[in-house]
Amino acid sequence: MRAARLLWHTRVADKKTVNIREAIAVCLLLALCGCNRGRPAYTPALGEIMTLTQMRHAKLWLAGKSKNWPLAAYEVDELEEGFADAAAYHPTHKTSPVRLERIIPLMTGEPLKSLRKAIADQDPQEFQPAFDSLTKACNGCHQATNFGFNVVIRPSANTFSNQDFRAAQGQRSGTTP
Ligand code: HEC
Repeated sequence: MRAARLLWHTRVADKKTVNIREAIAVCLLLALCGCNRGRPAYTPALGEIMTLTQMRHAKLWLAGKSKNWPLAAYEVDELEEGFADAAAYHPTHKTSPVRLERIIPLMTGEPLKSLRKAIADQDPQEFQPAFDSLTKACNGCHQATNFGFNVVIRPSANTFSNQDFRAAQGQRSGTTP
């Protein structure tokens, strides 16, 4: 008799556990279906991509000036990724008479190539004209797309005081060098 009652209690407890599990599964499913509803996928605006491009353009210069070639190579990669995003997310733009997806590789291809070569050669004499050719491409594209009032130049100062642009010598301490 006692054993039978024990068995009954266990069954009820098991059933409750199953019910709770089912309820959790249903809630999870509902939450998954509900998320993102009515919210469009995030598309970075061209102005945002360009502001990051401006930052990387400056960092590339500072890295090259400091002969920090790994950092310079990294900034070239980041610039290239930004250009690819600009072309992918904004194949056309506002009143631009030219398609961005066409003009971006046309204008930036050669300067990026010469920057990569200068960095591989670790040559400051090559790096400076390669950098200037990229800046020229930035401004050329701004003119071609009716945004010629955005004029990019060589950075005249380091505005990133929280980053060490010198070539890494082992691990730095993280305090003032
Ligand atoms: C498609 C060719 C193209 C290229 C290549 C390009 N830009 Fe732009 N850039 C634009 C357009 C178009 C805008 C205006 C975006 C908008 O409508 O917000 C812009 C805007 C900008 C802005 C203004 C951002 C702001 O909101 O203040 C800066 C800064 C800028 N670009 C820097 C650069 C730099 C630096 C480079 C090169 C390393 C570069 N751009 C290369 C097309 C280009």
